[in-house]
Amino acid sequence: MREKRLYINTIGCQMNVYDAGQIAGVLAPLGYTPTDDIEAADMVVVNTCTIREKAEQKAFSFLGRLTKIKAAKPALIVAMGGCVAQQEGEAVLKRMPYVDLVFGTHAIFRLPEMVRRIEASRCRIVDVRMTEAIEIDRPVDGPLDEGQVSAFVTIMRGCDNYCTYCVVPHVRGREASRHPDRILEEIRMRVDQGIREVTLLGQNVNSYGNKEGLCSFAELLEWVNGVEGLGRIRFTTSHPKDLSDELIQAFGRLDKLCHHIHLPVQSGDDDILKRMNRRYSRSVYLDKLARLRQVCPDIAVTSDFIVGFPGETERQFQRTLELIETVRYDGLFAFMYSDRPNAPAAKFSGKVPESVKKERLQALLDLQQSITREKHEAMVGQVRKVLVEGPSRGLGESAGGNGNPDIRWNGRASSNHIIHFSTADAHCPKKEILTGEFADIMIEGAYAHSLWGRRVQG
Ligand code: SAH
Ligand code: SF4
Ligand code: F3S
Repeated sequence: MREKRLYINTIGCQMNVYDAGQIAGVLAPLGYTPTDDIEAADMVVVNTCTIREKAEQKAFSFLGRLTKIKAAKPALIVAMGGCVAQQEGEAVLKRMPYVDLVFGTHAIFRLPEMVRRIEASRCRIVDVRMTEAIEIDRPVDGPLDEGQVSAFVTIMRGCDNYCTYCVVPHVRGREASRHPDRILEEIRMRVDQGIREVTLLGQNVNSYGNKEGLCSFAELLEWVNGVEGLGRIRFTTSHPKDLSDELIQAFGRLDKLCHHIHLPVQSGDDDILKRMNRRYSRSVYLDKLARLRQVCPDIAVTSDFIVGFPGETERQFQRTLELIETVRYDGLFAFMYSDRPNAPAAKFSGKVPESVKKERLQALLDLQQSITREKHEAMVGQVRKVLVEGPSRGLGESAGGNGNPDIRWNGRASSNHIIHFSTADAHCPKKEILTGEFADIMIEGAYAHSLWGRRVQG
């Protein structure tokens, strides 16, 4: 079998990153090996996202840039996968004449068969069929990057929550959970390959297994915690309405569970939350957070926000800023509201002008930046255990290092903070650290976007 090169461009969330590994994994038996060199590729896949309009545009502009490459190499197979593919289906073939294959979010396991057909007869294929349950659920041995110490493991797909702004339920389908045995099998396989940390993925991991009556998410975590050789567990995303007491307690009980939760709140105003169909109030959210902090006092909390949701008034936006000041997040992602196809909010009145959305976004980010800086400064002098992810390169803020890139490293703390550190000083006799080791780091420098330290003896 001739060796063929596969180039994958991934846009979007961690699920797409995970799916890219699956795509590479299912195509490996056909002779495709991953490449970073698009010119050398025999097949190009763009794994797309449609969460906001900009993400969708990114997918089409990438495909646009392929025109030249395809003209020079007509045998190149061009495929679009992911959420834009699911949303647009046939329309992509009309809009992009050189696209050979459009495959939706439920079609990854059908890829080998489709690619074989295209190789044999150069036909054009669209497969956006969706299924209720995850019918094929075997762990795929997708390739790991060199030195990779952390991996994503999808535990469920789809979403049943229908937040009014969101396209995900329409492009990922109904919520369906994988069987715990398959999940554990996949984690063990990754650990055998050298992975030390897993991040369990789902749009709402808190409702894992409910539909199928499998087990609760907290029970799944307990089993994952028992996997030998695994060092750390993370998960994302947690929907506040389904954050159970059982899960809160897990933070106090499971030694491998990282002290970090990503708990998207979206807005600090009850009326907006209602119209977003989030099904929790500001006070319920704050209550759950208080209980989490009781069980796990050093838990880091991050969140997602949407500014400029239809009808959002200045006063309502202020409520969001007040919430941020109350919670004092360790970090956040904030987005300007974007109309999405099939999402009910696209038809809501009271659209907020782009200029106002921009101003609100900036005000929110400025506030968080000052909180982050203060929180970073308060970490100076603390010792944090990090999982070493690899050597640091090309860093902007160069404190704490000594100019030699070979002896600066990146490590991730349980709280999810990245800490850059050096091993080459008198305090630390051990000069070499292997990626994938745990190390104790004394934090010495704190900046708005980075933390610096040195290794101390654990
Ligand atoms: N399942 C996760 C979020 C997935 S989408 C959850 O429930 O929190 C990631 C983030 O994108 C969302 O948290 C939201 O902040 C943002 N987002 C989703 N739809 C959006 C839209 N139409 N416009 C702007 N931001 C959006
Ligand atoms: Fe979208 Fe809401 Fe589902 Fe998250 S929970 S994916 S925001 S519909
Ligand atoms: Fe984007 Fe699809 Fe993820 S729309 S955010 S890639 S689920």
